[in-house]
Amino acid sequence: PTSLIIDCDPGVDDAVALLTAFGTPALELLAITTVGGNVPVDKTARNASILRQIAGRGDVPVFMGAERPLRREPMGAGEFHGAEGLGDMVPFEPEAGCAPGTAVEAIVEIVMARPEKTVSLAVLGPLTNLALALRAEPRLAGRLGPVAVMGGARAEGGNITASAEFNIWADPDAAAEVLASACDVTLFGLDVTHQVRATEARIAGLEALGTEPARAAASMMRFSQRIEREIVGWEAPPVHDLCPVAWMIRSDLFTLRPCHIAVETVSDLTRGHTAVEFREDVAGPLRHRWATGVDVDGVFELLTEAVR
Ligand code: BDR
Ligand code: CA
Repeated sequence: PTSLIIDCDPGVDDAVALLTAFGTPALELLAITTVGGNVPVDKTARNASILRQIAGRGDVPVFMGAERPLRREPMGAGEFHGAEGLGDMVPFEPEAGCAPGTAVEAIVEIVMARPEKTVSLAVLGPLTNLALALRAEPRLAGRLGPVAVMGGARAEGGNITASAEFNIWADPDAAAEVLASACDVTLFGLDVTHQVRATEARIAGLEALGTEPARAAASMMRFSQRIEREIVGWEAPPVHDLCPVAWMIRSDLFTLRPCHIAVETVSDLTRGHTAVEFREDVAGPLRHRWATGVDVDGVFELLTEAVR
């Protein structure tokens, strides 16, 4: 199995990704680390613990991470996730809370204790925790296996501004540090996540399964369906954060292009823009990958199997 840490800010689409990971035996889940993003970090940590309980995965530790971005003020996305971060689900006090220690300490300790390149990392929120971990332990970049990030925008522009997608926009400095590091990073930006849509048939299919994790995943998507209709005018909401987790389970479902990615951190106008350069003569070595294509039915099959 793939040994994986998931860093996230649940968040309704983070929740769907977590439920998929919790129910997939091909993943050895080492830890869930949380960050302030969609909602403040005390809520994202609590939400991760709630989802773990729903999935019956008390064996996976949850760690609380950074409260705020490296330099920017924290900016949430409660309108897309609900004030508590789990859409229409009313949060409850989970039976078990966070493990002692911080997310940054956990990422460093787990990765450094294992053989080189054997721990993968999926980042589903702002990149603050990973940037802080790289500052704390610079050898981490060379020790980590593949890092799959939901973040960035290119073809159709951003979802927060014309230039920027939320996770990169929320902490552009952290994203820039991670992309400038030696980490082996693949970005799953809006070009690909906007293809992964929770259609009515897909949501109804999950509801019909009747298990608690399936009902929880469906309820996240029902909330997004309503909100995206109201705010953006879309019939079927994208399930962004499912992409990096699905890639960790079945990389063959995605098409990637080698590239070099840099992030704008200074301009007020284009803050958080991901400059994705495919030309080696312009950018130098193409160390990153940008996801361009996806087998959407294949991704939803992974989700369905996991919550069944
Ligand atoms: C990203 O922003 C967050 O609101 C979602 O959880 C996802 O990680 C999409 O831009
Ligand atoms: Ca997220």
